[in-house]
Amino acid sequence: MVTIKDVRESNLAFKLSGHASTMVAVFVGATSGIGMGTLKQYAKYAQGGKAYIVGRSKVAAQPLLDELKGSNPTGTFEFIESEISLIKNVDIVSEAIKAKEKKVDILFMSPGFLAAGGRIESAEGIDVPHALRYYSRLRFVYDLLPLLTESPAPRVISILAGGKEKAIDINDLEVRNDFTFAKAASNGTTQTTLAFEELAKSYPSITFIHKYPGFVDTGVIGRFLGTVTGLMAIPATIAKWAVLPILNFFSTTVDEAGERGLFLATSARYPPSKPKTDFVGVELPQGLEVATSSVVKDGASNGVYRLGALDDSAPDGDVLPRYRLDDVGKTVWEETQAVWDRALGRAA
Ligand SMILES: NC(=O)c1ccc[n+]([C@@H]2O[C@H](COP(=O)([O-])OP(=O)(O)OC[C@H]3O[C@@H](n4cnc5c(N)ncnc54)[C@H](OP(=O)(O)O)[C@@H]3O)[C@@H](O)[C@H]2O)c1
Repeated sequence: MVTIKDVRESNLAFKLSGHASTMVAVFVGATSGIGMGTLKQYAKYAQGGKAYIVGRSKVAAQPLLDELKGSNPTGTFEFIESEISLIKNVDIVSEAIKAKEKKVDILFMSPGFLAAGGRIESAEGIDVPHALRYYSRLRFVYDLLPLLTESPAPRVISILAGGKEKAIDINDLEVRNDFTFAKAASNGTTQTTLAFEELAKSYPSITFIHKYPGFVDTGVIGRFLGTVTGLMAIPATIAKWAVLPILNFFSTTVDEAGERGLFLATSARYPPSKPKTDFVGVELPQGLEVATSSVVKDGASNGVYRLGALDDSAPDGDVLPRYRLDDVGKTVWEETQAVWDRALGRAA
């Protein structure tokens, strides 16, 4: 378990290290919730540094941008307005970043929403929540690999449900048959871990983190309950107004989730498989150890971390060992690229 005290100590060490002044971070989905919490902590602890914030509305984000600048006057915070559930837009945003930067140190991704009901197809033919949790996030990783590999200690972080991987139908990775929102969400979780493990084989200087944040009071569950229709709308409304406030009482705050987000992005607890330099992150607070990666072979880490709410490595679970033996990660990665090609073909 990583205590919040350890997290704060590490974040303070990050601030004092001065590493942030030359850092370039890309935040996707940071206009609210866990991403926003992390972005605010990045601004607070970084001395200078740069962040690109990819979101849907610059006007809506202006108060946040003002706050970031207020807490870090020497930092640069650049908003890129885009609807990134479309793969073609992910490419446009990535090209804009590539045109300006020589490296990216942190890619922090947390866009998404929960909605009851059926598939919500984008113009590119992908279910929008599934794109936000998986296809668009992985496209950002893919597009930005040339910049990530230029960083001395690059990190990719996806806030989703690391450790909650379940069996998937490898013939229906987009969940076109018997679609349910829960099935699609679970599918995206397993795909994320397998795709990260596949990418880590070819890009060993990058740390890949797939985190389950626990219950964070971002309003996401209340918004989800508001999308329930029909007979189930009655219990959903009761849950929203009577049960949720009680649950929220036990939840993590956005601020604390953000402190943990910054810790994941900067601590030496999560080294890559093959570091480029001696620097793999901010030195660990006393008593804290390097985390166990998702695969350890002959004592060597694969640089992928599946983390729970308190930033510990999740146990392997039932499905991943078999999937690794069967090379399902390779299939998932190939199919992901096929979905992108189809989507971009449609967009052309
Ligand atoms: N919060 C929790 O307790 C919890 C628990 C487990 C897993 N998770 C997962 O963690 C991730 C982050 O959760 P969160 O609670 O921080 O989420 P959140 O507060 O709802 O924020 C999600 C972000 O996604 C963006 N977004 C929503 N719909 C979009 C769309 N159609 N196109 C582009 N961007 C869109 C939002 O942008 P706008 O500002 O433009 O709306 C916002 O920046 C999600 O994948 C969630 O499923 C959360």
